[in-house]
Amino acid sequence: MANLIVVGAQWGDEGKGKIIDLLTDHFDIVARYQGGHNAGHTVLLHGRRYVLHLIPSGILHPNKLCVIGNGVVVDLSALKQEIEDLQAAGIRCKGRLFVSDRAHVILEYHRTLERTDEERRARRIGTTHRGIGPAYEDKMGRRGIRICDVLNRDVLQEMLRENLREKDRLLPREPGLPRFEAIMEQAAALAEELRGYFVDTADYLNRAIDQGKAVLFEGAQGTLLDVDHGTYPFVTASNATAGGACTGTGVGPTRIDSVIGVVKAYTTRVGEGPFPTELTTDIGQEIRRRGQEYGASTGRPRRCGWFDAVLVAYARLINNLDTLVLTKLDVLDELQEIKVCTGYRYRGELLHTFPPEIRVLEQCQAEYQTVPGWNQKTAGIQDFAELPVLARDYLKRVSDLVKAEISIVSTGPDRTETIIASPESRLLSWIALR
Ligand code: IMP
Repeated sequence: MANLIVVGAQWGDEGKGKIIDLLTDHFDIVARYQGGHNAGHTVLLHGRRYVLHLIPSGILHPNKLCVIGNGVVVDLSALKQEIEDLQAAGIRCKGRLFVSDRAHVILEYHRTLERTDEERRARRIGTTHRGIGPAYEDKMGRRGIRICDVLNRDVLQEMLRENLREKDRLLPREPGLPRFEAIMEQAAALAEELRGYFVDTADYLNRAIDQGKAVLFEGAQGTLLDVDHGTYPFVTASNATAGGACTGTGVGPTRIDSVIGVVKAYTTRVGEGPFPTELTTDIGQEIRRRGQEYGASTGRPRRCGWFDAVLVAYARLINNLDTLVLTKLDVLDELQEIKVCTGYRYRGELLHTFPPEIRVLEQCQAEYQTVPGWNQKTAGIQDFAELPVLARDYLKRVSDLVKAEISIVSTGPDRTETIIASPESRLLSWIALR
């Protein structure tokens, strides 16, 4: 049995929820390694729609175990709420969900700080307002409060006092900032209530792997939102790329066998920042409408554009992707013609690497290949041979441009609406999917 990482190879919202749900059958444990409740994984299971923000979607499978690793930032009230919502839907979390006691917590003042930070900036980032960035700032600033600290009243008291002194300096006239006692009591009570979920997840995962258990590492957000490799500063505050799976769980790289990238048949982005293939025309709106492109966490309309092979090839490189899973092919069913970005031109010159400077990326002209649309329904197709020839041509073009095989294609939200595109794929041999 293999241990695999699933990452988003664009700007998030690639449809990882469905793919992880599909793969979960072949694993014992599903582990989240970064981000927080800014993620939104939508899964359609037995006709019911679940949106999970913090807990791995593996929780929907009764005999699977789930881990929230040390790299995740945890809002304890959001965790409690999600556990309660799942329990109300008949899904048990006790004994199946393990949260790292080294994970840092998001507290009320992180959200306040984020709001004021956005207001002060010359250009907004367009965050999800969940306090994610400020919580990671505290972590890197070596003043963050971890779950193991919240569990110890004396430690929490001391750390919180110090943190609030510093936050008061940052927010001198912030009227809504909750006071020490309120934060202290709420955090301590939540931690006490959730105590049974907290463990040393690095130890837990490594022991499980020693015993032959298979782990699926569930990436949140996407490669271009990674704090190191993404379109900085228009990124999230964690490592959404494959490398984050090691630091965010304490499982070493040589224990992980493969990395799978999920992409949409087109591109979307929520929040601000450069987007070379963005469509501001009717076609963009049509894609948004057909693809129901609205943020799962914030409900914001997503910006839509053509598939960008430059960007996905960059994601292939950064994650060393073994294979691609392409989702939402059916969203393009009614288009007369479809474009694929094959290169970026900056001041007349074709670029050979993905540019680090936002100003350059913003001024890049996307070069396109235009292909005819298939103008036929692919929604729900389960057999590669049944796809229209032009749709198959499109998949081949994408695969050739990105230089990565496409092993699975998704043609609808249900798990049955899935095509094995490349039967000899390494992915399938890893997990014996068929
Ligand atoms: P933050 O993660 O809330 O700090 O937001 C930073 C950027 O990441 C913003 O552009 C968000 O819209 C984006 N972002 C955060 N989480 C997701 C996600 O799950 N999908 C897509 N974009 C996300």
